[in-house]
Amino acid sequence: MTDNSAPKTAPMQGAGAYNRSSALQAANLSSALPLLESAARSVPIDGNAPLVLVDYGASQGLNSMQPMGAALDILRVRAGPQRPLEVVHTDLPANDFAALFKILADDKRSYLSGRRDVFPSAIGRSYFEPMLPPGRVVLGWSSNALHWLSRNPVHAPDHGWAVFSQDAAVRAAVDRQLDQDWRAFLQARASELCRGGQLVCQFMGRGPDHHGFEWMADAFWASLSSMGADGLLSDDELLRMTCPSAGRSVEQIEAPFNGGGYHGLRLNHVSVVEGPDPFWEAYRQSGDAGQLGRSWAKAMLAANGPNFTTALNPDRDVNVFLHTLGERLSARVAAGPRRSQTYLLLVVLEKLLETSI
Ligand SMILES: C[S@@+](CC[C@H](N)C(=O)[O-])C[C@H]1O[C@@H](n2cnc3c(N)ncnc32)[C@H](O)[C@@H]1O
Repeated sequence: MTDNSAPKTAPMQGAGAYNRSSALQAANLSSALPLLESAARSVPIDGNAPLVLVDYGASQGLNSMQPMGAALDILRVRAGPQRPLEVVHTDLPANDFAALFKILADDKRSYLSGRRDVFPSAIGRSYFEPMLPPGRVVLGWSSNALHWLSRNPVHAPDHGWAVFSQDAAVRAAVDRQLDQDWRAFLQARASELCRGGQLVCQFMGRGPDHHGFEWMADAFWASLSSMGADGLLSDDELLRMTCPSAGRSVEQIEAPFNGGGYHGLRLNHVSVVEGPDPFWEAYRQSGDAGQLGRSWAKAMLAANGPNFTTALNPDRDVNVFLHTLGERLSARVAAGPRRSQTYLLLVVLEKLLETSI
C-alpha cells in the first residue's frame, strides 16, 4: 500500500484563484495573530543588520498582508525608522508567485503601502529543507500550511484523505509521514533562526475526541465517488485520489520535544482551538444554501484541486473534472447545510541561546 513513487504535494490553484477563495484561511489565521505580535515584541533586534521575517507557505500572498504588516509595525517601533526590514515569502517552486508580487505592488492591502524600508523577496523551495543561511531569521510565520505533507505516503482506497480511512495501516502511514515531516521542518528552522528568534505557526490540528474536518472531507469524497459510480473516473484514478494533508494532535507536535528541546529549538507554546466557519456565519445571515455550497466548493477546489488533478489519467480534461466536482460538492452541501467543525493548532518555537538541547 505504501508508495514511494507517489507524487509530491502540489501548490494551490494558480492564476490568483487561491487569493480569490481563501476567506476561510484568512479567518483561521486570526487566532494566531496575538502570538505573532507577542513574538515580534520579544525577539532580539541588536545590531544594525536588516531584520529578516520569513513567511513559510505564503501561497499567493493575500493572507500574508495583515500578519506581516502587524509584525513589521512592531519591529519598526522597536528597531527605529532607518533599520531595513526584509520579508521573505516562501512556497513550493510551482507556486503562483506572480500573484503574490502583484498584490505587493498594486493592492491597497499590501504591507508595502504606507511603510518604508521594507524589502520583500520570495524563495521557491520546500520548507522541509533549509532555505536561508544559518542564523538569518529573526521572526518566522506560517499560516494554514503545515498540515500539507511533503508527499503522499499511501493511496487510501476508501477516502480522499488517508487520515479518514477505515484501515488502521493507512492511518499509521499518515502518522509516520506527519512525524517525519514535522522533524524535518523543525531541523531546518533550527538552522535558519537566529539565537532568540521565534517562529509562530497556525495549521490544521486534531481535536480531543475526533480529527475535525470530517463533514467537508466526507462530502468531497462522496462527490468524487459519485463521479466514479457515473463512469467519470476510473477505479485507478479514485484510488490515486488521496490528498497529502492531515491534522496533527498536540501530542504529535510535542513528540520531538520530549527530551526538552529539539536541535536547539524550544516549544514555547502549543494549543488547539476550534476553527471558525465564515461560510456558516454568512449562511445564518442570508439563509442561502446555494451560496453556502458554492463558497465551500470554490474554497475546497482552490486549496485542494491541484492535488486531486495530479491523479487524473493524462487524457482527462482537467477543467471538466474540476467543474463537475465543484457542482456535485456544491449541491451536496446545499442539500444539507452544516457548520464545519475543525481544529487549529497554534505553535510558537524559539531558538535557544544555548544549543545543548
Ligand atoms: C493553504 S495555503 C496557505 C497560504 C497562506 N499562508 C494562508 O494562510 O492563506 C498552503 C500553502 O503551503 C504551501 N506548501 C505546502 N507544502 C509546502 C512545502 N513543503 N514547502 C513550502 N510550501 C508548502 C502550499 O503550496 C500552499 O501555498
